[in-house]
Amino acid sequence: MSKNVRKFLIAGNWKMHKTAAEALDLVEQIILDVGKTTDVNVVVCPPFTCLESVGRGLEGSTVKLGAQNMHHEKFGAYTGEVSADMLRTLFVSYVILGHSERRQYFAETDEFINKKVLAALDGNLSPILCVGETLAERESGKTLEVVKRQIDRGLVGVTGAQAEKLVIAYEPVWAIGTGKTATPAMAQEAQGAIRLLLNGHLGSAAGAKVRILYGGSMKADNAEALLAQPDIDGGLVGGASLEPRSFVKIVQAAQKQAPKRGH
Ligand code: PGA
Repeated sequence: MSKNVRKFLIAGNWKMHKTAAEALDLVEQIILDVGKTTDVNVVVCPPFTCLESVGRGLEGSTVKLGAQNMHHEKFGAYTGEVSADMLRTLFVSYVILGHSERRQYFAETDEFINKKVLAALDGNLSPILCVGETLAERESGKTLEVVKRQIDRGLVGVTGAQAEKLVIAYEPVWAIGTGKTATPAMAQEAQGAIRLLLNGHLGSAAGAKVRILYGGSMKADNAEALLAQPDIDGGLVGGASLEPRSFVKIVQAAQKQAPKRGH
């Protein structure tokens, strides 16, 4: 197997939590401990209403800013939506796309999500494309089939040259916010399969550059074992990212593993 040079990425998905003032407070506590981190990439994804204040709070730190969604058009009559260019003006560099909550509650389809992935890459944002099976799908043995469909459809038109900007998050729906985590072996099995799919889409040299995060009840006490897996290149952290000490501990778990990848 070739050497794994992918740098860990730990991203906090704050979902619909925090006012602008609370968000600033949270980010100030995070950067106190991990604001100068270079061996691991750290990203926080607050709600749209906090992007500006959090962006200001991050100035001078290595922590990057992410959004939780965007529209694929550049501008226009799309009430309630924001574009990649609008996010860029707030110094956003990552955007979560196709989160299972958006698929479930806002009826986002693979085809719609694919348009956003392409628009994000075109707009110089790193998309974090979320995929993952429900409990019923896992129990009926359909995990890999579901993930394959989400990857195949989500990545239409993405090229190998864009691999370094692309991030995938494998988030089994049954593990999100439930306290149930996939075991490291279960996550690795799915993420190893995702790597093979990426190799098929982008070519294996490019596929090896794409970071695949695990998400679903990642916490300080399970992060290290998950991050020790060869195809787990970081975490998309929901609940634990709202608690500065927990989030910092997850970043530190990645820092502990980073030298094994040469960082
Ligand atoms: P969780 O959420 O860590 O609270 O399970 C993860 C996510 O939804 O991205």
